[in-house]
Amino acid sequence: MDLESKNQAGPSVKKTVFSGVQPSGILHLGNYLGALAQWVEMQSKYHCIFCVVDYHAITVKQKPEELSRRILDVVKIYLASGINPEKAVIFRQSDVKAHVELAWILNCAAARMADLNKMTQFKEKGANKESVSVGLFDYPVLMAADILLYNTDLVPVGEDQVQHVELTRTLASRFNRDYGQVFKIPAVAVRKQGARIMGLDDPTKKMSKSASSPANYIALTDTPEAAAKKIKRAVTDSGKEIKFDQNKKPAIANLLTIYSLLSGLSFKELEEKYRGQGPAYAGASAGKYGEFKNDLAEEVRKFLVEFQIKYRGFTDDEVREILQDGADRVRPIAQETLNKVKNKLGIN
Ligand code: AMP
Ligand code: TRP
Repeated sequence: MDLESKNQAGPSVKKTVFSGVQPSGILHLGNYLGALAQWVEMQSKYHCIFCVVDYHAITVKQKPEELSRRILDVVKIYLASGINPEKAVIFRQSDVKAHVELAWILNCAAARMADLNKMTQFKEKGANKESVSVGLFDYPVLMAADILLYNTDLVPVGEDQVQHVELTRTLASRFNRDYGQVFKIPAVAVRKQGARIMGLDDPTKKMSKSASSPANYIALTDTPEAAAKKIKRAVTDSGKEIKFDQNKKPAIANLLTIYSLLSGLSFKELEEKYRGQGPAYAGASAGKYGEFKNDLAEEVRKFLVEFQIKYRGFTDDEVREILQDGADRVRPIAQETLNKVKNKLGIN
């Protein structure tokens, strides 16, 4: 299937969406609310391609047996989140060789050291480490290759990935300018709410699978009891009001964001519900903000129970089949883009 020529055929043709998650650790509520929930909304409207980016995962050391397990588990998480393989393509990055080929070409023909030196994620991930792989530094170029191979229009990600999508646009424009038009310039899609879910133990840092303490995140595979404990112990702000105020009350703002996204209630409705329920409730065993936290824990419990029933419902064999089918479907699109690029460079 030639998506590019289909896209050029007219406005009735669906746009292409591409995104991915690394199989490198526990997936958490931030991944779901920032990325996966958005993918689910998009799959009915767009031609969606969702990748498990295992070549990105090996930019830091992984245990081989854990990695192969996690690749399958990430697909199960996609499926449990509501991604439907009949609507969206799901595949594994390393099954389509064009990704690494294009990454190398972009390394040579488009990416500059100065571009990569600006990447904040590398600065954070690479900081204070004794040995950092070249791959970790080059990670955003492989991400650009992922996106550009499929003539992608939209890249739905959390806020932490916006800079990488901007770099992708830069590399694509530079290649087009220097070698002739090949790449479509993709746009980033970031949710208004949920693009940056913060850590429960520290509302100044994002919820992250590489956090030093599990109190930071609610894993999608946490038991509801464990999740409830984490919410009850979550850091709160001084004051007594349940009010969305990003600057003055970052911890409550984060909990309200999670609550609102899971329940479908607006901030206004939630503020109304808990008006006047600050430390006056402090005498109760639940403590300050207790009622609010109890209710949030209940929302999270409902979500996790439903999610995990679905998650456990898929077998490894089913997942392998989905991945194989997905790779077979996208390989020709990737190869076609790669061929065009190689032609421009005189290496076809
Ligand atoms: P990663 O786990 O780094 O592979 O991220 C997978 C997706 O989840 C990416 O689109 C990220 O931007 C998104 N994501 C990761 N952490 C968060 C967070 N704390 N809040 C919102 N989105 C996130
Ligand atoms: N770098 C992304 C992350 O860590 C994962 C990723 C790899 C990705 N390739 C991509 C996301 C292409 C969107 C599009 O979250």
